[in-house]
Amino acid sequence: MGRLHTRGYRGIKEFFPELDVEIDLVMVADPVASSAQYAVDRLGYRSATSDYNDILNNPEIDVVSICSPNFLHREIAVAAAKAGKPFWIEKPMGRSLAESTEIAQAAADAGVATSVGFNYRHVPSIQHARELVKSGALGRINSVRAAFLADYASDPDTALSWRFIREHSGPGVLADLISHAVDLAQYIVGPVTEVTALTETFIKERPLPSQDGAQAFAKGGSGPRGTVETDDYAALLTRFRDGAVGTIEASRAHVGPHAEYTLEIYGTEGSVRWNFHDMNELQIATRNELGYRTARAAPGHGEFARFQPGVGLSMGFDDLKTIEAYQFVRSVVEGVQYAPSAEEGRQAIAVVKAAEDSMESGSWVKIAGVDTQ
Ligand SMILES: NC(=O)c1ccc[n+]([C@@H]2O[C@H](COP(=O)([O-])OP(=O)(O)OC[C@H]3O[C@@H](n4cnc5c(N)ncnc54)[C@H](O)[C@@H]3O)[C@@H](O)[C@H]2O)c1
Repeated sequence: MGRLHTRGYRGIKEFFPELDVEIDLVMVADPVASSAQYAVDRLGYRSATSDYNDILNNPEIDVVSICSPNFLHREIAVAAAKAGKPFWIEKPMGRSLAESTEIAQAAADAGVATSVGFNYRHVPSIQHARELVKSGALGRINSVRAAFLADYASDPDTALSWRFIREHSGPGVLADLISHAVDLAQYIVGPVTEVTALTETFIKERPLPSQDGAQAFAKGGSGPRGTVETDDYAALLTRFRDGAVGTIEASRAHVGPHAEYTLEIYGTEGSVRWNFHDMNELQIATRNELGYRTARAAPGHGEFARFQPGVGLSMGFDDLKTIEAYQFVRSVVEGVQYAPSAEEGRQAIAVVKAAEDSMESGSWVKIAGVDTQ
């Protein structure tokens, strides 16, 4: 993610020239010396350190990105806010609702702009879907179906990295992919008010990481195995404030779908279907037509025209991070919060927390602080 944030920053000048900012990659922090050196040699940072405090104490630095494993998000984000540095933080914002609330509060207290890595919001076809919903073209929204199915943890020999240890990661796919899916659904359809959930861990033991196994998806050795403490699968039944009902499901250990992140929204007059595997397409149906038609991303849909000259050409994942970098830096420059904010990061985790509570109680749980009127 650190590499993607870097490419995002570098792209601002080319794709959003009107912002008129010079991006200077001043310093990178990584305790793994080879990764820090890579950032200097290959990504173009001027200097490297093993201690992120060197970045926060550097008056030359205007904004920071937080792309560390989840267990460091709260610590670094609160320190960044106290140092007066606006921050762009990866999701899940915290390991728990308490941590996420602390991060959002620290940013609010310090008055710093924030952004959270909810990259799928920036997909032009998602922007188009949102406009169709907001304009009423789909009628009243009855139901939402999100399924974020991935295979990144489907290999039982993937090492027991930070992603599989509860203290390091938070609850697992609930935080990792459900937070993305919840944010996307809330962004388009409005707040979730109530959930009931189940989770499961399919692969219960994994090989301990070898010494250089710091990276999240490294293979483990043939030595001893340790217990996986986080969930591989989660499914939520949801109610939305504006009357829709839905299912939000995620897996990181399915064989087949690589990053098959789908969102379907069904209204009284029509529906839309989107799949990240075919990110530049939106399936649209209306009550008076038979079947779906495919709307390819085109100028007029979100920021598509910045990246490609015409319909039929494709944007990619990295471009979403460039849009996110732009919205973050624009928030800082203009003093207006544009990007998905830390408060929105907190709201996604509030749904995750309700899902965890539902697992414990076996019943429906209301999302704290959502106005149901
Ligand atoms: N937005 C998305 O779609 C998306 C996708 C993947 C990951 N993520 C998020 O990005 C974050 C990082 O995930 P990843 O897959 O890049 O993990 P990773 O394990 O591949 O990389 C984490 C990096 O942080 C470094 N690190 C560890 N301790 C540090 C410290 N004290 N200071 C500075 N750096 C430190 C590690 O050495 C490593 O280089 C996670 O929160 C993850 O959920 C978001």
